[in-house]
Amino acid sequence: MKKRTLEHFKKTIRDYYKKNKRNLPWRNTTNPYHIFISELMLQQTQVSRVVKKYKEFIKKFPDFRSLAKAPIRDVLMVWQGMGYNRRAKYLKESALHIERTYKGIVPQDVQKVDELPGIGSATAGSIVCFSYNLPTLFIETNTRRVFIHFFFADKKGVDDKDIIPLLEATLDRENPREWYYALMDYGAMLGVGRKNANARSKHYKKQSPFKNSDRQIRGAIIRHLLKNKHSNENSLNSVLSFGQARIKKNLLQLRREGMIQEKKGNYFIV
Ligand code: ADE
Repeated sequence: MKKRTLEHFKKTIRDYYKKNKRNLPWRNTTNPYHIFISELMLQQTQVSRVVKKYKEFIKKFPDFRSLAKAPIRDVLMVWQGMGYNRRAKYLKESALHIERTYKGIVPQDVQKVDELPGIGSATAGSIVCFSYNLPTLFIETNTRRVFIHFFFADKKGVDDKDIIPLLEATLDRENPREWYYALMDYGAMLGVGRKNANARSKHYKKQSPFKNSDRQIRGAIIRHLLKNKHSNENSLNSVLSFGQARIKKNLLQLRREGMIQEKKGNYFIV
């Protein structure tokens, strides 16, 4: 890639950011716990919804210690409305791990963060970058969109491996945090009202419809068990109209994941 092309690209992103930067609560902090929570929330949930929950969550669980000690039931209560409930369990387990293994301090080593439950390499990279302003390399959905849009205009099946060198060549090593914020804001802008460039990524997976999905059923079961303390299969079947077989299947899955428990035919969350 020509140096001039890269300089032009950087200027475009920076100029956009100067005028359009989003003021998001987790960008006004360097508290690794707060950043940790926000990045896990942002994995699969849109920014507007995260803003509200993020504030609620850190109010109720202000640090790794309080989250590590909390019953999963209490964590799920606050998590309601975010979807993908398993993330709430991962958060708690990661908090416990950070408390025990790292004395409550998020490691600066991406590899170590990557090993925590529910954290993939992109989230690990973002947590370390935003907490410590370190030039980690990670590609999340908005950044990916920017690079595909600018550098792979006519290509299909774009591999993240081919984006990494461009990311490396453009990353601001003095202030990686700001560069990633700028990329994310530009990518979010590109995501509105035009064909999604990410559909041309090799790693693209369309989020499957929620309605009538197993995900919806598991969400409904969790909500019911948070409201009712415990319930058996019969009452779940009469309240949730998805059919016995599908309820059974998802109860089993939730148990396997350790989200719910069962005793003598009664299901509950501890
Ligand atoms: N700011 C910091 N992390 C972010 C993310 N994952 N998505 C959007 N904005 C962010």
